Amino acid sequence: MERGKVYIETYGCQMNVNDTEVIFSILAKAGYTRTENMDEADIIMANTCSIRDNAEQRIWGRIDQFYGCKRLREGVVTGIVGCMAERLKDKLLESGRVDFVAGPDSYRSLPEMLARIAPGRPQINVELSREETYADIEPVRIDKNGVSAFISIMRGCNNACSYCVVPYTRGAERSRAPETIIREACGLFGRGYKEVTLLGQNVDSYLWHREGGTDVDFADLLEGVASISPQLRVRFSTSHPKDISDKVIFTMAKYPNICRHIHLPVQSGSDTMLVKMRRRYTREWYLGRVAKIREVMPDCAITTDIIAGFCGETLQDHQDTLSIMREVGYDYAYMFQYSERPGTLAARNYPDDVSPEEKTRRLNEIIALQNELSLESNRRDVGKTFTVLVEGPSRRNPADSCGRASNNKMCVFPSVGPESVKAPAPGDYVDVKVMSCTSATLICERV
Ligand code: SAH
Ligand code: SF4
Ligand code: F3S
Repeated sequence: MERGKVYIETYGCQMNVNDTEVIFSILAKAGYTRTENMDEADIIMANTCSIRDNAEQRIWGRIDQFYGCKRLREGVVTGIVGCMAERLKDKLLESGRVDFVAGPDSYRSLPEMLARIAPGRPQINVELSREETYADIEPVRIDKNGVSAFISIMRGCNNACSYCVVPYTRGAERSRAPETIIREACGLFGRGYKEVTLLGQNVDSYLWHREGGTDVDFADLLEGVASISPQLRVRFSTSHPKDISDKVIFTMAKYPNICRHIHLPVQSGSDTMLVKMRRRYTREWYLGRVAKIREVMPDCAITTDIIAGFCGETLQDHQDTLSIMREVGYDYAYMFQYSERPGTLAARNYPDDVSPEEKTRRLNEIIALQNELSLESNRRDVGKTFTVLVEGPSRRNPADSCGRASNNKMCVFPSVGPESVKAPAPGDYVDVKVMSCTSATLICERV
């Protein structure tokens, strides 16, 4: 039965992107179809993020726009799902602008909720679960080129980083059965996908307990996925510095198709801040993990997340962040100003006392330094050859192709080489030599 067209806008992290794919799959089974055009949709929703205040402010703006669509076209239903739904719950319904609110663990109930909506009868389900992993649901892929896909291997988070809202919006950590993950990866490879990214807030704490058998940890899982085919690339995110084990590092080294890239968020270089953030590692421990990675895989890229201006951060603490960035020489970083999230440990215990201007100033210093470091990192790669997984034509110049090297750097190169080889298709592996670079891209030639 044709029930209507669904339009979903996705905000936030890769896990949210994968959740949108899960939602499409659940709704497709119930007879709904997908549309990428909001103006023809019967159901409009935003899959939302609460990580920083500006992420939520953006959504409030979208809620108003969705409401505009509702008023123009009778029968249109609008909703908020994801982390902001979980955080704000019925406060979102009080706005009178949305018809349903669904948290990250309640997507199986969406068809039922949609069927129940009536004027003056909005629906809400923000129940969190200890078991839900959507393990049996095959996500409807929304990527454009059929080369690279996300696989969620766990949900929730059991850490209590004091600044972070995720444990509140996504609930307790739970791992997904390894067989279902391997099956999904095999299925994708069979359909022509060449890369999977295993997703979790803290992949290193993945653990599947088997009654009467041996437990499967993240390194075992990684090995299982990497063994599917040498032609299938494996990536993963996010690694928590306190949990990344030697076993994981050695497993990576053993399989060339496990990409040479670890996203290892440091957050701050100051031990005082790390304690207040409840990250449960020290600067020294972190540098020890970096040294181990470099010892085993000298060619492994290391990227990070950094928060500028956390509660009580002094100029010295800030200098410590700049110095750890230099010491590690990050290949890339995501950098943020601290944004207080209501209800978190930090919001309850520490004043948000670095002024907005000072946060911006420190963040800008961090960004400027990272631009230098990224450029230095790319310069170190000039002259090297890499195997690139082709994504398609380059956006800047359609005569060029682009794709990522194992270390996750974006490579751009002429599609047709001097020997007039045929232009590569998305999903092909191509060998290139790095000729020059910018801070964002490696400029290459085919070899
Ligand atoms: N689970 C991952 C991070 C997920 S959130 C980890 O532990 O590394 C992604 C990033 O957002 C975090 O690494 C952090 O740098 C940033 N972040 C989280 N909460 C924040 C806040 N309240 N203000 C600013 N940045 C925040
Ligand atoms: Fe948030 Fe920390 Fe969990 Fe990452 S590990 S999601 S930063 S609480
Ligand atoms: Fe945002 Fe939720 Fe991801 S808060 S970063 S969408 S887990």
